[in-house]
Amino acid sequence: MIRYDRITPEGTRDILFDECEAQNGIINRLRGIFEEKQYREVMTPGFEFYDVFSSNAAYYPQESMYKLADNRGRLLTLRPDSTIPIARMTATKLKGHALPLRVYYAQRVFRQQPELRGRRSEIMQMGIELIGASGFEADVEVLTAAVDALAACSASHFRIELGHVGIFNKLIADLEAEPAEKERIHRYIASKNYAALGDVLEGARQDKTAEILKELPRLFGGAEALEEARRLFSGYGGDLPVMLEHLERIYRVLARLDFGDQIMVDFGLVNQAEYYSSLVFKGYVASSGDAVLSGGRYDGLFRDFGENLPATGFALNVDALTAGLLQAEPEARGAADGTVSAAADGAPGLRIALTKGRLEKDLVGMMEAAGYDVSLLRDKGRKLLLPIPGTKLQVVLAKAADVITYVEHGVCDVGVVGKDTIAEQGGVYYEIMDLGVGLCRFALAAPMGQDFYGGFGARRIATKYPGVAAAWFESKGMDVQIIKIEGSVELAPLLSLADGIVDIVETGSTLRENGLEIIEEIRPVSARMIVNVAAMKLKKAEIDAFAAALQTAREGADEA
Ligand code: PRP
Repeated sequence: MIRYDRITPEGTRDILFDECEAQNGIINRLRGIFEEKQYREVMTPGFEFYDVFSSNAAYYPQESMYKLADNRGRLLTLRPDSTIPIARMTATKLKGHALPLRVYYAQRVFRQQPELRGRRSEIMQMGIELIGASGFEADVEVLTAAVDALAACSASHFRIELGHVGIFNKLIADLEAEPAEKERIHRYIASKNYAALGDVLEGARQDKTAEILKELPRLFGGAEALEEARRLFSGYGGDLPVMLEHLERIYRVLARLDFGDQIMVDFGLVNQAEYYSSLVFKGYVASSGDAVLSGGRYDGLFRDFGENLPATGFALNVDALTAGLLQAEPEARGAADGTVSAAADGAPGLRIALTKGRLEKDLVGMMEAAGYDVSLLRDKGRKLLLPIPGTKLQVVLAKAADVITYVEHGVCDVGVVGKDTIAEQGGVYYEIMDLGVGLCRFALAAPMGQDFYGGFGARRIATKYPGVAAAWFESKGMDVQIIKIEGSVELAPLLSLADGIVDIVETGSTLRENGLEIIEEIRPVSARMIVNVAAMKLKKAEIDAFAAALQTAREGADEA
């Protein structure tokens, strides 16, 4: 029997001396900030009844919660978040308490993470909730606390972006489309998938709603993004102008504060549109590929607990802030005892991950057409990290799946990778451009002349893409048995291991030469540019310039 008595579960770890001290330093600093603003500490249980979280299934899918049972067999869950337990506590224990209520917390949350992605399952969070106050002042109070918290705890410059999910919710409600299509539009806006968003909103519905929705994810930056939004929304009915005005006022007030130049807006910030009701915001620091701060107004949440209270708040990822401080230069670490200069790490360069192998030639050609000196890329030998002479760009050549991993973690800012790998691996990043190269398609194929759908019994499918294959057969309501194969998948039906394959087909010659034929096409595939979410906000100008250069190269190639 294997005994797991020497290691800790994936996603957890022991925290040793330096890190404990650094983490406590951050916690104490944040306590100081919150208490000075009259917030008082509360703690909620480490585990709660599952029912507390089940009505927010869209935000806390049950797959991500750790579950156990109590001594009466009732389902419990380790808390995946602190805001919902605090709402439960306020609606019950603090019913009738004078409002507004200002609370803060410092406690761990627990979330199941996909296997081997390097994500933490146990996260130390600190945050505040301002309960029973609505309107402009309350939003500004919470955001000012967010700015103060990041300014005090990040060793480098940071960004806070503001959005308004009310704007998206209004537009999507006005759009005439099936729920599944609205769901897709939501996803494409959240991931800045401009190409796919354009495609779904093309066609018949050339109305103002579709036009604005198409532009939403591109509307991010400083005052110019607000200006552009005003132009775009003009003449649109309902309370869109009121919501925009609210966001603008908040932006203007924050922009005047210390660190005001770190504030930006993003109308495409719609990730948690089911949970938040209007203002939303996220905070980023250079040392973390994920947001380290996340918050917003959640006026509807208390209704789940029989109360009707407006509320705003945010949570900070203390582990990520600690890691940032420990990584930073000693002088920056010292400076973080007070507040840190905004320009701590100077003008940023860009690290770009390119998929090696099949796509490599196309990508290098595109970069050359875009005017970059690719001599070192062409003559790379066994080198994996290559600078682009005369620029602050550095190129990494990696396997497709690893391109995604590097970008997701923020060790590369930008990646170029096939849609096949994106579809299989998923993850959180922006997918900003279809590069129009590496064109092929996903298809179901089987031995020529075989009646694939005929007869009974589950079919066996060999594939390098088990996620894509499973989702596709699921959408057809068909049971299949999937067998993961690493390469040359066409062999599996020839050796009678499988009845068919799901694979990418480019010219079709591998299928033909092995006596297979396409039964059904699943979806087209091409190379995409993906961008780390934090880098998109921290290095906007550099990323825009690189994307524009490749876009021009793409257009040049299309014309030729
Ligand atoms: C891909 C794919 C097919 C083949 C299709 O494999 O899995 O086998 O290319 O291309 P075609 O339609 O032009 O013949 P790849 O060459 O990447 O190798 P692998 O299967 O060993 O991973």
